[in-house]
Amino acid sequence: MAQAAVGTVSNLQSREPGPEVLEKVDKVIEAYRGKEGALIPVLHEVQQIAGYLPRCVLRRIARGLAVPESEVYGVVTFYSLFTMTPAGRHKIGVCMGTACYVKGAAALLEAVRSASGAGADGISHDGRFSLEVTRCVGACGLAPVLSVDGEIYSRVEPEAVPAILERYP
Ligand code: FES
Repeated sequence: MAQAAVGTVSNLQSREPGPEVLEKVDKVIEAYRGKEGALIPVLHEVQQIAGYLPRCVLRRIARGLAVPESEVYGVVTFYSLFTMTPAGRHKIGVCMGTACYVKGAAALLEAVRSASGAGADGISHDGRFSLEVTRCVGACGLAPVLSVDGEIYSRVEPEAVPAILERYP
């Protein structure tokens, strides 16, 4: 599905994980320390916690697992499932294709922005959500359409948005 980020991405690289996230990251590292083949599962779990893999976290993982930083970067850049680009833990897509637009996608987008707390970079301040607008996702008969982590919600009224997002802690 083709997607475009909402808003201007001006300060993405300055978004660093908070102490709570780093504490969880340390717990993951601790759980895998000394185990063979730990790097990929650690990266995977940490990305689920932080939403992405920032440089400071990669350095922490390298130190914690006693793996060269170059190896950690090598793995992250090799596998497409890993990303160093800031993102929320849950990906929200609001379809802005013609059918959805006609059925009120603009109001839906505003409701999602408001309920998710997404900033100008499309990421909520608590790191919970990334908001993107999408092109037609092929469900025009169900317009307007919203997706969260790939799950499609159809004929979504703006008032229903907070309850939908509640399902994604
Ligand atoms: S326009 Fe939204 S699903 Fe087709």
